[in-house]
Amino acid sequence: ASMHVFVLSGSSRTGSVNARLAALVAGLVVRTGATAEPALLGDFPMPLYDGDLEADEGVPPGALALRERIEAAQAVVIASPEYNASVPGPVKNAVDWVSRVRPQPFKDKQVLLVSASPSMVGGNRGLWALRVPLEHLGARVYPDMFSLAAAHQEFTEDGALADRGLGERLASTVGSFLDLAEADTRYLCLQRR
Ligand code: FNR
Repeated sequence: ASMHVFVLSGSSRTGSVNARLAALVAGLVVRTGATAEPALLGDFPMPLYDGDLEADEGVPPGALALRERIEAAQAVVIASPEYNASVPGPVKNAVDWVSRVRPQPFKDKQVLLVSASPSMVGGNRGLWALRVPLEHLGARVYPDMFSLAAAHQEFTEDGALADRGLGERLASTVGSFLDLAEADTRYLCLQRR
C-alpha cells in the first residue's frame, strides 16, 4: 500500500494508554507497507475555541499545523480516551478548530477510531461520540472500531498487547481499514475526474 497514515493520540499524558495504542497502531500500519506518522494532540497546542479570537487572530498555529498533518495523509487514525462516557473536550476542541479551515481536511478523509481505557468497555462510548462530528464533516469513518479494555495492564514491555488474540484482531482491523481506505480513495478520485 502506498498510503500515508497520520496516527494521532488524543492524550499526551505521560504513560497515556492511548498514546501507547497509537504507537502500536503506527507500527502495524508500517508492517502493511504504508507509512505512518505518529503524533500527540499536545504537539498541536491550541486555546479553547473562541469566535472573537478567531475573528481577531484567525485559526491558531497549532490548529493550522494539525490541519496540515490531516490534509497530508490519505488516512487518519485517532486513538482517543473516553471522558465521562463521551469524547474528551480537548479532542472535540481540536476537531472544532480544524473544521474552520478551508478546505476542511476531514471531508472524504479515511478515519479509523480506536480507544484505550482502564475500564471494562475500553472507552468505546467516547468513540461513538467522536464519530458524530467527524461524519458531519464528511469523514469516511471506518465502521469497525477497536476499544482496548483494562488497558493499564494490557501492554507488554515492548508495547505489544499481552493478549495475542486481541493483538491479532487489532492488526486485522488496521489491515482491513487500510484496504478499504485505499480502495475508497481511488473510487473518490475517479468520481472527481
Ligand atoms: C476518565 N476516565 C474514564 N474512563 C472510561 O472508561 N470511561 C469514562 O467515562 C471515563 N471518564 C473520565 C473522565 C475524566 C475527566 C478523566 C480524566 C478520566 C478514565 C480514563 O479512561 C483514563 O484516565 C485513561 O487512562 C485516559 O487515557 P490516557 O490519558 O491514559 O490515554
